[in-house]
Amino acid sequence: MLHTGPSTNPLFDRRPVALYADLLLHDVGTGDGIAQAAAAANEVRTPALWGLRFRRPLLHDGRAPTVTAAIEAHAEEAALARAGFHALDQASRAALLAFLGSL
Ligand code: HEM
Repeated sequence: MLHTGPSTNPLFDRRPVALYADLLLHDVGTGDGIAQAAAAANEVRTPALWGLRFRRPLLHDGRAPTVTAAIEAHAEEAALARAGFHALDQASRAALLAFLGSL
């Protein structure tokens, strides 16, 4: 869980933020080969998953029409996440998609 920085306002002072992302650059196999600022050629910044239910299409270039398609596109550094998704039984997969659909 990420936290806000120190603030004199107690409402914002080191509060947990449920972004469901690390906000870091990763190569998950979806990159376009264009290096930009701190991002190497195939790195993309991990988007916050909060508000996911309001966004379509998904991924930085809009190639994924659904959450399942976005997960299926994960490779390289995130290959394990995709493999984990494949390993879920039908009920667990539905529960994960329902959770993601609630964000
Ligand atoms: C259960 C595990 C995971 C789930 C359910 C998941 C889900 C998603 C979804 C739905 C998106 C699309 C978001 C959008 O376009 O607004 C996304 C994008 C992304 N995820 Fe994951 N993810 C998982 C694991 C990971 C891991 C382990 C990494 C990094 C090591 C990662 C890195 C990224 C990156 C960099 C993007 C943006 C890719 C692009 O826009 O081309 N994800 N993820």
